[in-house]
Amino acid sequence: PLISSTEMLQTARRDQYAIAAFNVHTLEMLQAVVEAAVETESPLIIQTTVGTVNHLGPDYIAHAAKTAADLTDIPIVLHLDHCTDFSTIIRCIRAGYTSVMIDASMYPFEENVNLTRKVMEVAQASGVNVEAELGKVGGVEDDIVVEEQHASLADPEDCVQFVERTGVTTLAPAIGTAHGIYKGQPNIDFERIETIADRVSVPLVLHGGSGIPAEQIHRAVALGMSKVNIATELRIAFSEAIKDVFVIHPEENDPRKYMAPAKEAVKRLAMEKIRLCGSTGKA
Ligand code: 13P
Ligand code: ZN
Ligand code: NA
Repeated sequence: PLISSTEMLQTARRDQYAIAAFNVHTLEMLQAVVEAAVETESPLIIQTTVGTVNHLGPDYIAHAAKTAADLTDIPIVLHLDHCTDFSTIIRCIRAGYTSVMIDASMYPFEENVNLTRKVMEVAQASGVNVEAELGKVGGVEDDIVVEEQHASLADPEDCVQFVERTGVTTLAPAIGTAHGIYKGQPNIDFERIETIADRVSVPLVLHGGSGIPAEQIHRAVALGMSKVNIATELRIAFSEAIKDVFVIHPEENDPRKYMAPAKEAVKRLAMEKIRLCGSTGKA
């Protein structure tokens, strides 16, 4: 069965590694990240955005993830990424999601606290993990667009207050990463990660994982980031592999054939990210 991410992430935080959380959009992508986790004997977080929930339906996604969990021996979590509304969270918990993110980072602090508390109440009753965001991660993530000048970093004192008042079990503090591929290098505030990790004991989440150099991922994880979200790089790997097939075989019309290299590309990339996170052999 699918499990909650609460303990999985607490263990990762304690032992200073991270769990890679992969955004998937199709059955092939889901199977690819599962195969990557099986081969590396790593715990796994499969996640979908609200856009994908609406595209495939939460039941199809939850059943596919449950099937993966039942067919393998590794711990698997199904997480709802960047959700801004309460009703979608309820739908996903009913469908079988074992972790949810309430992203109320666009609201003032007090409203973020209130909405997160409300989600905590229903989630805790069903043993579902809750992630919340403080500060604003920049860039484009599905339907959520945050212009660079509107991105803001999480204040460490706010993080302390927020965790205390909401009881939230996982925190995503904005520390300078952005969704999507970076134009230059990401501008990660490592000192801020260290300060926040020092002051709150809940596992921390690194958003905007695509495009961050390996050395910087290592550093962020060593400082207390226990979950690393990867979306854009997987989408690109999947799509480019399909485009490559059609360059050589424009007449190809068997989805099983043109998606096979795409699935393989996602699997390879996911294995690489899992190794970077240091969760190999932790299943
Ligand atoms: P990237 O698209 O930069 O990998 O960000 C992923 C993410 O944070 C999903 O929530
Ligand atoms: Zn994100
Ligand atoms: Na990114």
